[in-house]
Amino acid sequence: MNPAAPERAAAMGTRLSAKAARFTESVIREMTRLAIQYGAINLAQGFPDFAAPVEIKRAAQEAIAADINQYAITWGAKSLRNAIAEKFARTQALEVDPEREITVCCGSTEAMMSAMMAVINPGDEVVVFEPFYENYGPDAILSGAAPRFVKLHAPDWSFDRPELAAAFTPATKAIILNTPNNPTGKVFRREELEAIREQCIRWNAFAITDEIYEHMLYEGARHTSIATLDGMRDRTITINALSKTYSVTGWRVGWAIASPEVTSAIRKVHDFLTVGAAAPLQEAGAVALRLPLSYYEKLAADYLARRNKMLAILEDAGFRCFKPHGAYYIMTDSSSFGFSNDLEFVRYLVKEIGVAAVPGSSFYHDPADGTQQVRFTFCKTDPTLEEAGKRLRKLRPRSG
Ligand SMILES: Cc1ncc(COP(=O)(O)O)c(C=O)c1O
Repeated sequence: MNPAAPERAAAMGTRLSAKAARFTESVIREMTRLAIQYGAINLAQGFPDFAAPVEIKRAAQEAIAADINQYAITWGAKSLRNAIAEKFARTQALEVDPEREITVCCGSTEAMMSAMMAVINPGDEVVVFEPFYENYGPDAILSGAAPRFVKLHAPDWSFDRPELAAAFTPATKAIILNTPNNPTGKVFRREELEAIREQCIRWNAFAITDEIYEHMLYEGARHTSIATLDGMRDRTITINALSKTYSVTGWRVGWAIASPEVTSAIRKVHDFLTVGAAAPLQEAGAVALRLPLSYYEKLAADYLARRNKMLAILEDAGFRCFKPHGAYYIMTDSSSFGFSNDLEFVRYLVKEIGVAAVPGSSFYHDPADGTQQVRFTFCKTDPTLEEAGKRLRKLRPRSG
């Protein structure tokens, strides 16, 4: 997004890393900066503008007051690892050993990077569904993996089984799965996970699965961790975080669950990348993960109401929406507004309309695939969504 950056990099010649030159800065986080610059409502980056649960904020304050302010055990405070294991057993009926199978990281972002660096060798390939969460591209580059893409097809974001099968080769080390999915809102069904499982087993590949939106599910959608499928327990790295479920994206606490062998590699990478996540916030995380079922039910019900509100706002403004069944984003088709591409359209949205969104091209390896798509998040309060709606209604005359 910063036009000067590649030139500067070129001017620096070979002094900079070729890896870093292969990706741009995050489009999503760039949109947040533009939203601040233009006073726009930020429906680009997925962070809530409402309060985190009072119990967990209190737990964090108490942990600091109790002087839990030094390094935690590098792979995670015992209290948090125990709570993660208990929650996984409660929600997915999978028993994992908190001593040997869990690594607490600085957000799921670091968990994904540590996981990839722990399993990837030069020449390895990773299968990635697209549209994809934008981090997976740089994750692949930094870990040295070559991505192979499998399309999710709108409007229901289904994939072709032969295309999936063709993406796997003897060089495949892993498939990256994100369910419930950002940006599409797809929740992978059990039979789809079975098809992925079949390929993982056939090619002896890992599934690295990002399940950070596991509790945002709508209209009966169910989340299944692929680790629970036959033969997948020890070939899955399950990644999750406090960020979305407890509305604390700034805390930077996430984790990876994997077999002891894989965990020992993840722990080494993690230790030398970051040493550990914030110690007092890990203690608060242990409290968060033990919140009662009613917390998760209310979370899902509140998000369903926000989803429905945002669908109505976007449809009213002239967007064609792909209705999400999970997570907290809506992918839209913006072709009715007559813009030649998504970047031009989101720039217009942020500067002239006062709403920031994410251009669809940032979710595809070939930007051409996303030029008529734009993603909006709805993890915002009603007044924020309503104000966005008021502003988006100004779009109408252009759609004529
Ligand atoms: C699919 C997905 N994974 C990971 C993240 C980042 O998670 P964390 O804040 O735990 O690093 C996001 C944030 O938007 C996301 O959408």
